[in-house]
Amino acid sequence: MRNKVTVVGAGNVGATTAQRIFDGGYADVVLVDIVDGLPQGKALDMLESGPILGTDASIVGTNGYEETEGSDVVVVTSGIARKPGMSRDDLLLTNMKIVTSVVEQTAKFSPNSVHLIVTNPLDAMAQQALKITGFPSNRVVGMAGILDTARYRTFLAEELGVSVNSVSAYVLGGHGDTMVPVVESTNVAGTPVSKLIAPKRLEEIVQRARDGGAEIVNYLKTGSAFYAPSASIVQMVEAIIFDKKEILPCTAYLQGQYGISDLYVGVPVKLGSNGVEEIVELNLNSDELNALRKSAEAVQELVEVMAGAQ
Ligand code: APR
Repeated sequence: MRNKVTVVGAGNVGATTAQRIFDGGYADVVLVDIVDGLPQGKALDMLESGPILGTDASIVGTNGYEETEGSDVVVVTSGIARKPGMSRDDLLLTNMKIVTSVVEQTAKFSPNSVHLIVTNPLDAMAQQALKITGFPSNRVVGMAGILDTARYRTFLAEELGVSVNSVSAYVLGGHGDTMVPVVESTNVAGTPVSKLIAPKRLEEIVQRARDGGAEIVNYLKTGSAFYAPSASIVQMVEAIIFDKKEILPCTAYLQGQYGISDLYVGVPVKLGSNGVEEIVELNLNSDELNALRKSAEAVQELVEVMAGAQ
């Protein structure tokens, strides 16, 4: 039997994610959206690409949740996206309501699933999903670190004229202005990046990665990034359904690790069929640890705003 993946939100991020998974052919996909006809039309269009791609997986679109029953992974992308001049935090209360109503349903129909949260502001939405689903925290995880890290690696590879595959890096912290690239563990085929790029230039590259989402919003004007986000989601989905136990930077619920408790923050995790199977504690220097804790404080502020609004 194939794995089953539900993707909620048939907009840019959700539909592209569904497409990437369907094209891979290893999971049946259910695409859900509140807009009548949108998920049905996109899913049918993708299904009809099956004979060309040689894919026998199924994909259906729906406005309800019955079809999502028994999913192994539920990807939540429903919500509003940023427009130029908006921060991810501007989306907080609107997306909180959307994520709440969605995960009430998905958790009911797929009580054993891993929920993968993508809607922004990501860390706060993961926290809300944990609360509403009542799932153990290993089965609610957020996508941000892979994307932030991919942006950082892209810019480093471009700067150095080497393959992206030769650049290893981790970006931790919240998904936003407080993200924390771990410069010490960033290396190019084993050589620390600090030996290859001058500090001032490296800081510019870090800042561009930090602003990577906004750079794309400013180009698109009517929406935010979705190609690199959906590729990041699919890497996580594959790690879960194939029980890869891959160590990836994800947004996970910390309970004392890095001195942070009861909060979702971006850290390296071991991702497998049980979701977050382990939180990996890197040896951070004091600057990085402080930056990570500052990032956690920014997430805490959003959690408090949400608590006041419920
Ligand atoms: N239930 C189901 N779908 C919903 C609901 C709901 N309650 N509310 C909104 N949606 C759907 C919209 O109808 C839309 O099709 O979510 C979809 C969002 O798609 P886009 O507007 O294209 O946004 P997208 O770029 O996909 O981003 C979605 O992911 O990366 C984050 O910041 C981004 O929070 C945003 C989310």
